[in-house]
Amino acid sequence: MQQAISKAELEIKEKRKQMCKAHMRQRYHFMGEEGWINDPNGLIVYKGKYHFFYQQNPYGSFWSEMYWAHAVSEDLIHWEYLPLALAPSEPYDEHIEGGCFSGSSVIYKDKLYLIYTGTMNNGSEFVQTQNVAWSSDGIHFEKYKENPVAVAPVGYQNANFRDPCIYKEDDTFYMICGARTGDIGRALIYQSKDLLHWEYLNILAESRGEFGYMWECPDLFKLGDKYVLMFSPMGAVDRKTVYLTGDFNKKTGKFSPLVSGEIDWGFDFYAPKSFEDSKGRRIVAAWANAWDWMPWWKDWGPTYNEGWCGHFNLLREIRLCKDGRLQFIPIDEYKEIRRDKQTEDSFKVESGQKHKITCGDGVAFELRVTFDLTQTDAECIKFLLRSDNQSEAEVCIDLKHQEMIVSREKADGWSNGVRRCPLLMENENELKVHIFSDQSSLEVFTDDYKTVQSFNDFATDAQNLNFITAINGNVAVLEMVSYGLNDVMKTKNQKNEVEIAF
Ligand code: FRU
Repeated sequence: MQQAISKAELEIKEKRKQMCKAHMRQRYHFMGEEGWINDPNGLIVYKGKYHFFYQQNPYGSFWSEMYWAHAVSEDLIHWEYLPLALAPSEPYDEHIEGGCFSGSSVIYKDKLYLIYTGTMNNGSEFVQTQNVAWSSDGIHFEKYKENPVAVAPVGYQNANFRDPCIYKEDDTFYMICGARTGDIGRALIYQSKDLLHWEYLNILAESRGEFGYMWECPDLFKLGDKYVLMFSPMGAVDRKTVYLTGDFNKKTGKFSPLVSGEIDWGFDFYAPKSFEDSKGRRIVAAWANAWDWMPWWKDWGPTYNEGWCGHFNLLREIRLCKDGRLQFIPIDEYKEIRRDKQTEDSFKVESGQKHKITCGDGVAFELRVTFDLTQTDAECIKFLLRSDNQSEAEVCIDLKHQEMIVSREKADGWSNGVRRCPLLMENENELKVHIFSDQSSLEVFTDDYKTVQSFNDFATDAQNLNFITAINGNVAVLEMVSYGLNDVMKTKNQKNEVEIAF
C-alpha cells in the first residue's frame, strides 16, 4: 500500500500550485487538497486532535478508484492535510471503479482502527467486503492480513454491501452496514469484541418501500436517552439523508423508530457521518454534492476545470428535542472566524421592495434574521442571495403554504432546479433564519435548526449583493445581524504553495 500512497502523494504535490489559482474553492468550508472528494469517513478525536478521513480520487476531478484522504485539526476550523491513509493495494480493494470505499474509525487498545469497504470486480460482478486497517501513530496505516472480515450474507447483493459504521456500547463493538436485497434497502448489524471477528446479529432496520432500494452510509449513535439511525437512501426520490430517532435493543440488534426526519433537504448534502468529540458533542459532517442517480442531478459542476470537485457542508452539532426531532446547529467554532459585525433593528420591507443587506464582502458571510410574524402579512419572504441584480439564488420562505423553496434557476449560469421542503413554523409570532454563504455554497437554517437546505452556487465574486424582498404583503424584521467570515482555507492553500516554492 505504501507504494500506491507515495505515488498518489506525488500527484497531489504536483497539483498544489494549480489549487492556488482555483478561485471557486471555499474559504471556510473544509475541502480536499485537490482532485475529487466525496463522503466523510472516520471522524474521530485521537491523541488530542480531530482526524478527518474522506473519500478521494487524487488523480482527477471525477469519481474513480477511491483512496482515503486524511486531515487533522485542533479546532475543527484550521486543517492540516496529512498523507493519504488508505490506498487500493489488495485483490479485495483494487479496481478502477472500486477501491477503498467509505467506513469508520475507532480507537481500540490505543490504536486507531479504520474499518472500510473494499470494492473489487471478480470478472462478473462488483464485490464489496468489510476490511480493517490500523495505526499506532495516527498517520501510517497497515491492512489486516486476514481481510476481509465480513462478506455479504446469503441473499444479499455482493455489489451492495458497504459503508460500515462502528458503534461501541459497554465492551461490544457493533458494525452497521448498508445492504440490498431485491429492491429493499437495509441496515445489517454485526457484533464483535476485537474488531476482527464479526458475528451477524440482525436486520437493524429496513425500508418498507418508503426509503428506497439501498441504504448508503448508515450511522448509529446514542443521543440523550434515545438512539439515532441516519442513512442515505438510494431510490427514495426526494429523500436522501434520513434520520430515525428511536430505541435500540442491543441484545437482538433491532432499532425501533419513533420519529423520522430529513437531516438536510438541500440539493447538496449527502452521506452524513457523525462522531462524538471530547466535549461530548455529537457532530455531523456531510458531502456537499449530489450523485448522478438523484433526480435533480445535472453534472459534476464547473469546478473540474480548476482541478477539484467537492467540499464538506458546515459541521453541525446534533441535539435531541423533547419530541424526538433533531436540531442541526453549526458548531460554535465558526464564531471564531467572524468579523465586521453589522446590526439593523426593527425595519419593514414593503410589498415588492428590495432591502439591501450589508454582510461582510457579500460572498463569505453569516446572516441571522428574526422576523416578526405578528406584523408580517406577506405571502412570502424572499432572500435574493449572491446577486448582481441579474443572476441570483432565491430562498423563499413561503408563509402561505408553509414551505421553504430554493431556486437556482438564475443562480450562476450553471446550476438549475428548485427544491421544496415543509416548514414547521412552531412559533406563530417569530421566525428565525440563519444563512451561511461561502465562495461556492449557501446553507439556510430555520425552524430552530430543525429545517435546513444546503446547496452549491458557483456565483462570481461580482455577485456580492444580497437582499430581502416581500411578496404580496409587508415583512417586519425584528433584528438582523451579519458577519463577514475569514478565509481559513485559502491561507492553507497559499501555505502549500510556499512549501512547494522551497
Ligand atoms: C456514498 C457512496 C458510498 C461508497 C462511496 C464510494 O456517497 O456511494 O456508498 O462507499 O460513496 O465513494
